[in-house]
Order: sequence, then C-alpha cells, then structure tokens
Amino acid sequence: MKKFLAAALVIALMALMVSAVGAAAPVQQEGGEEYFVQANDWLSKLAEKQYGNVLAWPVIWKATNLKAEADDSFVAIPDPDVIEVGQKLWIPDEAAAAALLEEFATERAAASSVGSDVTGELNLLCVVQLDWCEGQIAEFNKLYPGIVVNWVRMSSGESLTRLRNEASKPQFDVWWGGPVDSYIAASQEGLLAAYDSPNAVNLRDPKLMKAEDNTWFGIYVGSLGFATNTNYLAEHPELSAPTSWDDLTKPEWEGQILVAHPSSSGTSYTHLCTNVQMRGEEAVWEYERALSANVLQFTKSGSAPARFVGAGEAAVAIVFSHDTVKYIGEGLPLELSFPAEGTGYEIGGTAIINGAQHPDLAKLWVDWSLTPAAQELGPKFAAYQAPTVIGAEASRPELLEVNLIDYDFEYCGSHKKEFVDRFTTEIANADNLKK
Ligand code: F6P
Repeated sequence: MKKFLAAALVIALMALMVSAVGAAAPVQQEGGEEYFVQANDWLSKLAEKQYGNVLAWPVIWKATNLKAEADDSFVAIPDPDVIEVGQKLWIPDEAAAAALLEEFATERAAASSVGSDVTGELNLLCVVQLDWCEGQIAEFNKLYPGIVVNWVRMSSGESLTRLRNEASKPQFDVWWGGPVDSYIAASQEGLLAAYDSPNAVNLRDPKLMKAEDNTWFGIYVGSLGFATNTNYLAEHPELSAPTSWDDLTKPEWEGQILVAHPSSSGTSYTHLCTNVQMRGEEAVWEYERALSANVLQFTKSGSAPARFVGAGEAAVAIVFSHDTVKYIGEGLPLELSFPAEGTGYEIGGTAIINGAQHPDLAKLWVDWSLTPAAQELGPKFAAYQAPTVIGAEASRPELLEVNLIDYDFEYCGSHKKEFVDRFTTEIANADNLKK
C-alpha cells in the first residue's frame, strides 16, 4: 500500500494544470499522461489500447482517483463503469502501470489470511453489476487468499465478441454472469470447455440450469420488467407505469424509452427474444420498429437504462427487475412493473473458457459458484437475482412470481447471431451507444 501511495504521490506531484477539458489529445507528462474521455471510451478499452491488456483497467481508475485527491482538475470516478465524455483521466505510463498492477496484486493476495494454500492467477470475465463482481471476488479471496483474480466487467454481447476474437489465445479463464443465451451461442462455437463440476448436483433443475455437455452452469434467475420514473408519472397524471409490451409503442412514450442494444447487452437480447417468442419471427420486427421509434437512445449495458431513467433522462427503462430493485434501494425514484401478457427471464451462467490458461483455478471458481454459500451472497452486494441451487433462498421471490413465458434458451442461444444481426441492420445500428 505504501509503495502504491508513494507511486501515486509522485504521479500527483508531477501533475500540471491543463484547462482544455474536452480536448481529445493526450497530454504527455512524466510518469504518464492526461487523457480526456471521448465518445465510446471506457476504461478497459483504454487499458487495452494503452497496455495491450483489458485487465489493467483498475490502473487508470485508481490512478485517476489518486490524482483527484491532490489535484481538483481531476474528478474521482466512483463507478468505473461510468466515465463522462470530456472527463480528465490519468493514464500512467507502462512502467508506472506495471508497478501499480503488481501493487494491486499484492494487496488482493493479502486481503485475507484464512483458508486454502492454492496460489495462482485467475482471469475472470464478469458480466453482473460492478459492485457484485467486486464483492464476489473479495469473498472468493477469503476462501482462496492465494489466488489473484484479475477481472473486467463487460456486457454479455461484448464478452461473447471478445471470446470469439480471442479464441486462438484466450485471455480469460472463466466467464461469470450474463444470460445463458450467450453461453449457448459460445458453446456451439466451441468457445467453452466442458467441466463435470461435482457441485452441479446442487442445481434445482439441472435439465434447465446446465448444459447437457457441461459447458455452462446456471447461477441465478431473474425476470424482465419495466422501470418508470415516479417523478415523471407525478408530472404526467394521465400516464401510468406500462403493464404491457404494447404500451411501450404508444405515442405518449415518444422519446421516453431507454433500453440497451441487443448486440452488446444480454438484457436487451432477452427482451428481443422474449418478443420473438411471443409474436413470431416475422411480426416481432414490426413491433421492434415501433418500439425503437419511442427509444431515446440505445445503451451498451443492460442495467444502465434504469440508472438513467432514475436520473430523469427518460421515463421508462426495459431492464431486469432485480436491477430496478437495486436502484430503488439506492434511492432512485423508480416504479417496477411487468407486462401482464407475459415476460421473459434469464438464467445467468458461468463457464470455463476453452483453452483457458488456468483451468484448475477456473474449476474452483465454478465449483464455488454452485454452492449455496456463494449464491446467498448476492443481496450483500445489492444483487437480487434468485439462486439456482438447493439450500440458497431467493431474497426477492416475488420478482419471479409474475407471468413468465416458457423462455426457450436453446432456441434463443442458437438464433442469437441471426436475431442480433437483423436487429442491427433493420432496426438500429450499434454506433454511439449510451454508456
Ligand atoms: O447484474 C445485472 C444483470 O442484470 C444480470 O442479472 C444480467 O445477467 C446482466 O446484468 C446482463 O448484463 P448486460 O445486459 O449488460 O449484458
């Protein structure tokens, strides 16, 4: 920690005032450079560009936060998933970044002194909300303090694209979270490794909740719903929270709907495939076209629409119900509702990547993910999905006590590429997604 702070102090002392907020060009200084966020930037993307390693994103996050402590031209980043265009970041140079990465690894390895003596590194691709990724990894480290978990949060579609691109040399060992539609697609493309986890016996419904060939396992369940801004409803007494998919296409919601793009987001793909199943493979495009006419902007991450609607940027979000519950818990003015005619749901998955560099450690993660103890941790980190294993109880069972369709995961997984491509070419392209 001392070394980390010392490095940060050096960085802070070297800072120069730059007033050109909004300028895109990096401002070189000793030990690193200032950088102004541009559209479609996010930390892991910058880490990859700068260091050739997506997993190095915490370097930029933490170095910027340290800068902000000493220099008020920087603003601290409370949520590394959210960076604003024009915001100033500090990007340490390669040497400083390597020192910081080593420092983080040492800190994390020392995070607990209890438990097993297994050591090594595990590269985790995490799709759930950031707080849950962080919290779950810290809990894993209580059991396995010698395992350094390097991780990055990406949305489902983004992760699938990344796994495809890295197929010949996978960077990740294990994938954790995100609807299994993407896991089914990945498995069909040979991107996942089969693993006969001894803890799969814990699953409540093994037929539904794991791949027949053991290439993926279900770790949570969540239903899709709508989140409506209650202030907007108060200002528009003639309106009420939508209770049908068709409500969303009505003229009164013009420019007031937010939903993620199905190419990047598993949440949005669940919404798309739900409607494919309810309306049929042709009529669904008419519906999606009408819906998109009311959409203010498509976002990259599936839960972001609820956050933006909570902030008053639009009136209604299509999101998983547990994410709405999380944001209501954080004080956002949201009302949760469901389409009465039926809604889709997700089984969130986990899997070992085919060709993983650390398959044994990945197995430990998967085994642990299938225990009641690991699955009951969700609410501690504001994640209210229902567990999939016997012995772990749902924190918000009412979220699944709604009219759920008989969602066909095999069908949706097998057609993912086809439906997403058609959405992208016919309904909305995936340029300039709101972050
Ligand atoms: O943790 C939040 C969550 O809603 C998960 O339940 C879900 O699997 C994941 O996000 C999907 O994220 P995205 O839509 O960004 O792919």
